[in-house]
Amino acid sequence: MEFTADNLKKELSSKVSLIGKEIVVYDEVESTNSIGYDLLKQGYPSGTVVIADRQTKGKGRLGRTWISPSGKNLYMSFAIKPSITPKYATLLTLTSVVACTTALRRFTDIPVLIKWPNDMLVDHKKVGGILSEMKIEGEKIKAAVVGVGINVNMTEEDIPEEIKDIATSLRICKGEEFSRALLATEIIREFDKWYQLLEKKNRKTIIDRWMQLSGTIGRQVKIVLADKEIFATAEAIDEEGRLIVKLQDGTYEKICAGDVTLLRAK
Ligand code: BTN
Repeated sequence: MEFTADNLKKELSSKVSLIGKEIVVYDEVESTNSIGYDLLKQGYPSGTVVIADRQTKGKGRLGRTWISPSGKNLYMSFAIKPSITPKYATLLTLTSVVACTTALRRFTDIPVLIKWPNDMLVDHKKVGGILSEMKIEGEKIKAAVVGVGINVNMTEEDIPEEIKDIATSLRICKGEEFSRALLATEIIREFDKWYQLLEKKNRKTIIDRWMQLSGTIGRQVKIVLADKEIFATAEAIDEEGRLIVKLQDGTYEKICAGDVTLLRAK
């Protein structure tokens, strides 16, 4: 299927309710997340999907760059105006990664796992990630953009040397190429379903599914925060989407940001 907004809309037809009524596909943008904000400002409806063939300034979490070559991967953003309060902002990211991981598993049959909060991993290597950005005013999220990057058809040669040890693609994992357009529709459908659950405050269903798909819970982790490093066991996710960890002295801490490294058993 050719990667056009019309094709994607036709494929989705009536199967979505909150997401994907508007889909905009670009050849090249700096970042689909930035475009998502612009479109909401211009009056595009909540649920607008932005997709690009390539990004010139793809953004990752924690100020990193997201490698975004043409013709290979999926770069998409959901521009939304959620009704959740800022307190549940982390949960929006968890909801998104649950949707994407569920879609990836169904579409490829690859046992993709989630690493807290929003990495999608296969065999300890990253196949996708999510960057949520929000504009908060008082007790309201005015606008949010959930950016999804999936390494779809990159080969080993396409992956830059400096991230070869930590990055992979669906094609490398499965030994076959995948249609980016069909994968995009699968992700949009699944995002629509899980976003509705979030809007209906069905938080337990989301957290339970996150825990099911998680490669983090029960594992020893190293957490790098702005001011310290923590070694702990990841125990659960709380109602607001924070990671509950048990420290070596037996006390518990709740983590809502920071970079988590899974420590491998020796
Ligand atoms: C991460 O660091 O894991 C998050 C990566 C998010 C990348 C996606 S690609 C589409 C969207 N646009 C961006 O600039 N970033 C996100």
